Amino acid sequence: MAARPLAADPGPPARSKSVAGDAERRTVLPAPAAWRQVGAIVVGQRDVGAGHRWLDLQLPRVFTRPVAGQFVQLLLESPSPVFLPRPMSVAGSRATPRGPVLGFLYEPVGVGTQALAGLIAGERVGVLGPLGRGFPREVPGTPLLVAGGRGVAPLLFAAGMFAREGRRCEFLFGARDARHLVALPEARERIDRMGGRLHLATDDGSRGLRGTVVDLLDRNAPRLPPPRVIHACGPHAMLAAVARWGMRHGVPTYLAMESVMACGTGVCRGCPLPRSEAARTRLSRHRDRIPSLYGTPEFAMCCTDGPVFAAEDLDWEHIE
Ligand SMILES: Cc1cc2nc3c(=O)[nH]c(=O)nc-3n(C[C@H](O)[C@H](O)[C@H](O)COP(=O)(O)OP(=O)(O)OC[C@H]3O[C@@H](n4cnc5c(N)ncnc54)[C@H](O)[C@@H]3O)c2cc1C
Ligand code: FES
Repeated sequence: MAARPLAADPGPPARSKSVAGDAERRTVLPAPAAWRQVGAIVVGQRDVGAGHRWLDLQLPRVFTRPVAGQFVQLLLESPSPVFLPRPMSVAGSRATPRGPVLGFLYEPVGVGTQALAGLIAGERVGVLGPLGRGFPREVPGTPLLVAGGRGVAPLLFAAGMFAREGRRCEFLFGARDARHLVALPEARERIDRMGGRLHLATDDGSRGLRGTVVDLLDRNAPRLPPPRVIHACGPHAMLAAVARWGMRHGVPTYLAMESVMACGTGVCRGCPLPRSEAARTRLSRHRDRIPSLYGTPEFAMCCTDGPVFAAEDLDWEHIE
């Protein structure tokens, strides 16, 4: 079974009858945009290994609860060392009487994320979201959640989301070494709670299988009865390998991508990803009906068409 394309195949305006007819109208527009900008309060932060941090933010009740794979833009309060917000996947969400508490797993790599790491409980952060399209929960099958390094963030959230729907996941987690299997206790705790199975791999063999997540797929996926569906996040080279694996084995595969972003809402046009030949051909027939905040037939916008894409929709040869 081929993955269901998520690319902005013009059916818009959302939910209107497509002139192309049902066969050609592959769904498209995600949930209607429900994002807003709110003030959030830092609940706490902690280390989760290899210099990575876990941040919990209390959001007000008006904030729409995200689905796994969606992201937010975090805006540091003035005076801030950075002008632009920083995109961050949602790694967890729990309801409280005051509104959702969202969890984020991040690596302080530069000025913005290092400033984020300095925030203490009670301080304020601006949050714009939830943004983009998450993992398509309607695609049936046993979820194979494939994580590389800090790419584990949205998959921790996905594991909880599928568990609530009664779907038992296989969690495949790889990193360069044992230390970079970040937030492993959090992953194990969630997976134990929902009765799923955790499979580990490291490049140097210091934990789990010596090899990559693709080796884990080779080893574990054939043992699972179809249908199966892959949801993955990690470095782009890993995602390209997982996308190719999914397409080769006929397993629907969805990848959470990253791009350097400014606005996060489709306005600045700064986060293009090249579409596959098939997606280009499909979309060029309806060029004039692609909504303005989405990409073009040639390039998807990571923030609005994605960040989660079907394997068939991107040109993996030209993604860095
Ligand atoms: C949809 C989305 C979800 C993300 N989710 C997470 C997450 O859950 N956890 C997490 O740690 N990070 C995540 N990121 C990456 C995060 O946004 C960047 O690391 C952050 O913006 C860097 O900001 P900075 O000011 O610290 O670094 P800067 O000073 O801006 O840059 C420092 C270094 O990081 C690089 N960098 C900047 N943006 C990215 C990026 N998107 N990907 C890779 N390298 C980048 C720069 O090229 C530079 O080398 C996500 C990005 C996107 C687009
Ligand atoms: S970040 Fe501005 S268009 Fe995607």
